[in-house]
This record gives sequence, structure tokens and C-alpha cells, in this order.
Amino acid sequence: MGIKLGILGLGTVGTGTVQLLQDSEGRHPLLKEIEIYRVGMRSLSKPRLVELPPEVVTTDLEAIVNDPEIDIIVEIMGGLEPARSLILTAIKNGKHVVTANKAAISRFGAEIFTAANQAGVYVMIEASVGGGIPVIQPLKQSLSVNRIHAVTGIVNGTTNYILTRMQTEGSDFDDVLADAQRLGYAEADPTADVDGLDAADKIAILASLGFDGRINLQDVYCEGIRQVSKTDISYATKLGFVIKLLAIAKGQTSDNSQLSVRVHPTLVPQTHPLASINGVYNAILVEGEPIGQVMFFGPGAGAGATASAVCSDILNLLATLKINTPKSNPLLACRHQNYLQI
Ligand code: HSE
Repeated sequence: MGIKLGILGLGTVGTGTVQLLQDSEGRHPLLKEIEIYRVGMRSLSKPRLVELPPEVVTTDLEAIVNDPEIDIIVEIMGGLEPARSLILTAIKNGKHVVTANKAAISRFGAEIFTAANQAGVYVMIEASVGGGIPVIQPLKQSLSVNRIHAVTGIVNGTTNYILTRMQTEGSDFDDVLADAQRLGYAEADPTADVDGLDAADKIAILASLGFDGRINLQDVYCEGIRQVSKTDISYATKLGFVIKLLAIAKGQTSDNSQLSVRVHPTLVPQTHPLASINGVYNAILVEGEPIGQVMFFGPGAGAGATASAVCSDILNLLATLKINTPKSNPLLACRHQNYLQI
């Protein structure tokens, strides 16, 4: 075993991540070098869908981020606190961090990435936006030479699932929301999904990456889907539109000195590439120069999809560290600038 993980949280994403790591056969060979060393959760009494040795599980989350044996902290508990403090303590202790926590990154990204730069560790956030869709790395790296004009996305699976079923089945909002919760798409408190707050967190992160600067969450206009009725949907259909909750970050001037960043239900022409994205799927359309349009599409929520993004961050981290460090001292020798700064 090469790398020791401390996982914070064993909810939907935590369970999916542990399952994926425990089932490494036929996947990337580096997965075999990862040891699930500790898993922290708020309560040991909740039923668990994964088997873990008793000595691995604990409710002492502080002990995990302070454990000198642990190389990488995987924060998938969500929420603002204690997640923020635990991430910062882990960084201070020289640990790399993989997180799916869009709320913490959209609010405390500057603080977290500054701390990571100072400590010389990586903070990886692929799972924070778009579930299983690789969009963070491409925006930060492969597309970074482009002058970005707009990032427009369906970035909340729960609301897209609700709107799709309202549209195709004429279902009621409350019934479909209950299904989304049962399927593990919705946040513990679905207000974050339904009122657009989850999408606002995600577009703040994408806008910061795409437009190379910090976007304050307070500056994101945000309106959810509670007011969208079956009648609205039916009229939209007759007029050739679908209603989607879009998250939009758009340059307002040629030099992008002014941006419009917003989340709201939007009339999307049925011929638009985002109109056909249905169910829990997410899609992010990036428009830039010289590349033109690039669209990322895939499952935007759920245990397996999000675990795929979390584990890809762990693997990328592992591969980067292996390339850059002497074999004898795989982690401690690696102290690079954090390339994911937003
Ligand atoms: N509740 C979120 C969604 C989960 O529905 O998209 C993924 O961030």
C-alpha cells in the first residue's frame, strides 16, 4: 500500500467512493496503491452499505486530519462547517485534499487555495461541479488558452430531473422531488437544489475558472424552480421552448471586464444543444475563442458518478506526485504551486 486516505463522510458520495476503491479490479493500476486508512462519519449507528474494518471507522474527524500517517484527505461530508475547518487543518498539516464540496469552495475557495499554495499541497475539486463529468480539469487546463466568452450549464441534476418529469409526464413538483431524494440526487436539504443555490455555487466555481478570477457568490443572481408551474411548461412547449434551470456566466464586454453570472429558469429553444439534456444529466457549454463551442455532458449527480470524479482526482494526484517525486519519499518531497487555484 502506497498512499493512505482519510475519508470524511460516508453518505451517498462517500459510500460510492469506498465501493469504487474497494472494487479496483480492471480499473487503473494505481488504485491498488490506495489504502482506505480512516473513514470519519458523524454517527456510527447509521446503517452502512459498505464493509469497513472497525478500526478504520471513527467519529473523530479532527483526529483524521491531524493523523500524520494520512497523505490525502477526501472531504465528502458536504456543508460549510466543520468541512471548511477540517480542510484548512488538513492543508496546514501538509495533506493534499480532494473535495466534492461546492458550497465550501464557492465561499471559501480563496482562503482554501491560498492556504494550499502556502503549504505547497494540492486541492482537487473535480467532483464539486457536474457530478461525474470531467469539466474542472478541462476548463483549467486544456481550454485555458482560449478567451472564454460564456459558460452555460445545466448543473443541478435534481432540478433537471424534476423539470424533465414535469414536462414529459405532467407530474407534480412535490412527487418528483420525493423521487429525486429517494434516488440520492437531491441534497440533504433539497432547498439548495430547488432554490438554485447549489447551481449558484457551481457556476461561481466555473466562472472563477473560466474567467480567471474570483467570482463572489453574493454577486450571482439566483432564482430557483419553485414558481415553475405545469402551465408554464405546457405553454413553453407550444411555443417551441423547454424550461431549464440554467447557470450562466457571460462576458459583457470584449475584454470580459464585466461579467453577468446568474441562475434562473430559462426558456431554451428546442433546437438548442442544452434543450435535449434530460433527467439527472448535466451539461456545460463552454464558448470561447478560438475554439468555438465545446459541450460537456454526463451524469450530474448520484453515488457512482460523483465517486468517479472523486477517484479521478485521487488518481491524478497520485500520478502527479509519482512523476514529480523520488520513489523513496513519494509525498513529502512534492511541494508545487497549486495549479487549481481559482
Ligand atoms: N444535489 C446535486 C444535484 C448533487 O442534484 O445536482 C450533485 O452536486
